[in-house]
Amino acid sequence: MHISENYMVPDHFQVIDFNKKLKSWYLKNHRPLLWRQTNDPYKIWLSEIILQQTRVAQGTPYYEKFLLNYPTVFDLAKADERDVLRLWQGLGYYSRARNMHFTARQIVGEFEGKFPETAAQLSKLKGLGHYTAAAIASFAFGEAVAAIDGNVYRVMSRIFGIQSDMLSNEGKKEFAALAKELVSLDDPATYNQAMIEFGAIQCVPVSPDCKICPFNDICFAYEFKMQSQLPVKVKKLTVRHRSLHYFLIRKNDELAMRERLGRDIWKGLYDFYLLESETAVNSPDDMDDEPILRVLLKKGRISEIPRLYTHILTHQRLNVRFWWIDFQPGDTIDLPPGMAFYTKEQIEILPKPILIDTLLKEENYL
Ligand code: ADE
Repeated sequence: MHISENYMVPDHFQVIDFNKKLKSWYLKNHRPLLWRQTNDPYKIWLSEIILQQTRVAQGTPYYEKFLLNYPTVFDLAKADERDVLRLWQGLGYYSRARNMHFTARQIVGEFEGKFPETAAQLSKLKGLGHYTAAAIASFAFGEAVAAIDGNVYRVMSRIFGIQSDMLSNEGKKEFAALAKELVSLDDPATYNQAMIEFGAIQCVPVSPDCKICPFNDICFAYEFKMQSQLPVKVKKLTVRHRSLHYFLIRKNDELAMRERLGRDIWKGLYDFYLLESETAVNSPDDMDDEPILRVLLKKGRISEIPRLYTHILTHQRLNVRFWWIDFQPGDTIDLPPGMAFYTKEQIEILPKPILIDTLLKEENYL
């Protein structure tokens, strides 16, 4: 065992003691979350995908709703993508729902509905990274592989004094090597749940209560008061600011919408006619060189919804304005390509970005 030479732990450190303490902490302190009461790989997969983007409290209702609609991988495989996205609405990162749907079809089509049982095989499936593959392999099939999510990076960097950038390739390798030494061979499922839970509720990002921590006798960060500096994350996100104008083309109380087909985060969701301006404009007059808009405004009556919406995504800050363009019942309209009119009842069930859903509710349309 190399561990005490490579990491900042006392000479008497033993992996077996670490694991024992971790497990007993877990048995006393863990939350009885729904996905911990199953070893069904489908349910575990769903929970991990949801929890990649959401906290437990917000994610749990989605988990329940999803399983109610699609109790097995066969049900998900049979589903219509539009319905899957509708259920996912509000969680964001819709590509994860699309990938799950795709992969469910593959599992049914190629593997008769049986999940591969090792992390190496699982990580070949679309949408399953190292973490998710290891989580499923250990929780569902008992494979002794470490699942390292953000919580686990934090725990390892603090206790073992790892100061390499957890987002760099070398850093990841170092964490992976340590995790491989730590993972329990007897009970890897509990080990992984315990590391995740320990990071989630004890070794929290800000102001952890180290006095009650079972590892405060060996923890590097505690000894050197470096809790707020660890883990080290060097990569900074650059945030792009965008100004968007949505036009709600309305006739006979129906609205023109279209499915987004581009390879972006809202692919498969429905929205309105959209223009982007280079500068933060306030009026669509600034965009009247846009031929489609010019045609629409020949007959359509435009009115502004007087609120500015901001929608924050991981790499973008969207500043969004909405405009009604109203037509008379007898008007003929050249709708922008790909658009069609939908009734209220149809719009209600279309999958939409949450921004669009919010706007429609605020306008008492839904
Ligand atoms: N976050 C990611 N995976 C989790 C899990 N299995 N339990 C609690 N929080 C998590």
